[in-house]
Amino acid sequence: MTDLSNTPLILLIGMGGTIAGLQVNGDGKGYLAGQVPIETLSGQIKSKLSIKNKQLSNIDSCDMTESLLTQLGQEVVQALHDPHIVGVVVTHGTDTMEETALFLELVCGHLAKTAGKKVVITGAMLPADHPKADGPENLNRAVALVEDQDGPSGIFGLMGGKVFQARSMAKRHTSSLDAFMNSEPVNLDLSSQVSEDLPIPSIDNWPRVEIVTNHIGAKGDQIEVYKKLGVLGIVLAGTGGGTVHQDLALSLEDFMKDGGALVRSSRVGLGVIPGQLANARLDASIGAGDLNPPKARIALQLALFASLHPKAKALSWQDIFARIAILPNFR
Ligand code: SIN
Repeated sequence: MTDLSNTPLILLIGMGGTIAGLQVNGDGKGYLAGQVPIETLSGQIKSKLSIKNKQLSNIDSCDMTESLLTQLGQEVVQALHDPHIVGVVVTHGTDTMEETALFLELVCGHLAKTAGKKVVITGAMLPADHPKADGPENLNRAVALVEDQDGPSGIFGLMGGKVFQARSMAKRHTSSLDAFMNSEPVNLDLSSQVSEDLPIPSIDNWPRVEIVTNHIGAKGDQIEVYKKLGVLGIVLAGTGGGTVHQDLALSLEDFMKDGGALVRSSRVGLGVIPGQLANARLDASIGAGDLNPPKARIALQLALFASLHPKAKALSWQDIFARIAILPNFR
């Protein structure tokens, strides 16, 4: 076995996804994500540098858990501190990639910048054994980005040949190779508000936060159940600019009166949520800025955890969330 202890390395972390997927009948129709080991994907890489492989999971990313986020965050932080590791590439399913990308941005984006390293998350829309598999191209571009010492450092996403700022990634097409269409390309100003990394919750210490969607006829009776289950925060996937049905609003008001944290986001997918609604519903809640509901959920979990952390510097979850969501940018 080669001794890699003193050579410059790229750390390649495999989480699973279609990039590691295999077709079921070889007819291009059905496939299972997370089948090919990271060592095999690593063999597709053309790089001057040595690659160190680490398989943290090999799953369909619809099964991602907070425990895996904790393990991934700790692994990446350790790599960013390691002088032999020049950068990190993470292979991941595209379905929840935006949540993991935002998580990494919030827990180690600052460290990556100060260490002058890049962390790039990538995946594929076609399984590894598909004749037109997009994984090898995405993986090689991600590695080339990490190798490029001249460009800006930080946390990035690479899909469909495009590089994205991690926090701006969102999957917007179920099958297109350009599934992350309309995600903003790299915009260095966007991440400038987060000047400190947030603490990573330990595996069983993640605050429970749920997403509740507004829709025609939305009711609020499930909120009582959530309270009994110990849910600490709710992200409203509101309609339009974060609006909410009057019946659901009543239950969410009660949730806040009982100390629950409420963030208003939108199910629309693009645009920014205003600080207050014109009809004054849920006035004590906080808008999600440009974060869509799944990303706002990760942000709220980290903000709640950080506000209880000894290093919180007396910041409330609202203060921390406002910094993450860049809230001064209201319409
Ligand atoms: C997954 O998210 O694991 C499956 C879908 C994909 O990777 O594109």
